[in-house]
Amino acid sequence: MKINSLRPLTGEGRKLFIETYGCQMNAGDSEIVVSIMQQEGYRYTENIDEADIILINTCSIRDNAEQRIWGRLSAMRQLKRRKPSLIVGIIGCMAERLKEQLIEKGTGVDIVAGPDSYRSLPELVRTAEDGTKGINVELSKEETYAEIAPVRLDRNGVSAFIAIMRGCNNYCAYCVVPYTRGIERSRDPQTIVAEARTLFENGYREVTLLGQNVNSYSFGEVGFPELMAMVAEISPLLRVRFATSHPKDISDRLLEVMARYDNICKAIHLPAQSGSNEMLGKMNRKYTREWYLERIAAIRRYMPDCAISTDLIAGFCGETLEDHQQTLSLMKEVGYASAFMFKYSERPGTFSARHFEDDIADDEKTRRLNEIIALQNSLSVVSNEAEIGKVRQVLVEGTSKRSDEQMCGRTSQNKMVIFDRGDHKAGDYITVKITSCSSATLFGEEIFE
Ligand code: 5AD
Ligand code: SF4
Repeated sequence: MKINSLRPLTGEGRKLFIETYGCQMNAGDSEIVVSIMQQEGYRYTENIDEADIILINTCSIRDNAEQRIWGRLSAMRQLKRRKPSLIVGIIGCMAERLKEQLIEKGTGVDIVAGPDSYRSLPELVRTAEDGTKGINVELSKEETYAEIAPVRLDRNGVSAFIAIMRGCNNYCAYCVVPYTRGIERSRDPQTIVAEARTLFENGYREVTLLGQNVNSYSFGEVGFPELMAMVAEISPLLRVRFATSHPKDISDRLLEVMARYDNICKAIHLPAQSGSNEMLGKMNRKYTREWYLERIAAIRRYMPDCAISTDLIAGFCGETLEDHQQTLSLMKEVGYASAFMFKYSERPGTFSARHFEDDIADDEKTRRLNEIIALQNSLSVVSNEAEIGKVRQVLVEGTSKRSDEQMCGRTSQNKMVIFDRGDHKAGDYITVKITSCSSATLFGEEIFE
């Protein structure tokens, strides 16, 4: 990497556009990247056509995520033909996974930066402007960007994400994340609480604590339950959520803290991945179906009203029809409120790519996935219908997509509710009686107690 030390350390008002794919962690990282670049004088723009620098924050979790980025890169090459000075950078998981491959001849990529090297982006951009490709894909044991105040890009002004940890040590057999995001490290709790307090003082009413595996958060004496309590104590008007948790770490202590605070939302996303012990073992998930169901029972003991959602993978290596049936029966037994559902996608370098054969034909994976999706749709309807007649507190997020006369907001259980505008504004709490539903949304009427 060549660094030209004669140039001033500033972006001199040059305009940065950033495009984000993948998970909420990536959305949070893009906000950190904008913050780092702004400190160097770059200006953020929402208009790609006026950008001097375009960064694409990428995801490698499944092959189709990467294919989409290759498609975007061909669009970038067209933009570059019109504006040869344009700098294009690939950052995030795909940068980490493919490294030099991304700046080979003809891709049009000038910069490659992995998830732990965002502090070096201003340097990398300068290097690229001098005509040399800039690459930094070093992973770190310590980097948490703890003191960097993210520039909020979502702008609903009500709910924000706070990254509390980075990386993952679980090495689920199918998953590329430990390779692209490195080992687990937790951020200093004081910086987390300070960030949440600043958000609250600026009108935000909901924070989601983010990590690949938040409930293994640990910093000195502070574990995840203690951190949740610290953030919940900021104000009863600040809702607290978290994502994502690994079933192995969903402790009674955490459930007890969740139950104790009204402002900790009663929603847990608990990825099961499969209902078959055979598959769970091969996936290296470190729990059995029975153990998982016991944790679900524990959640219901502490919080009868808690919504539970999940992630499921269809067609993992060697999955039999019986294994698949076990997934369907687990779904029914838990009665998930919602789910993210995927076809298994082999990722090079992972344990399952190295040791198991990806032996379920694609159309069979699709068939199983469709069965899972159809079942979940009916479970989502059941879960939503159970809400009808209930009275829920809703945090107003903004105007409904369907009509200016209506607004939308979420219940503690993370269900979206549509209601008449009245004189509400984003950030208000209102009490709503649920009157009807679709599989995705609830409809309600404000009530005055
Ligand atoms: N193929 C399909 N789905 C995957 N996930 C992770 N890796 C893969 C893969 N190789 C899913 C898991 C995880 C979610 C974020 O993505 O369900 O919980
Ligand atoms: Fe991937 Fe498993 Fe870590 Fe989640 S917990 S990021 S699925 S390795």
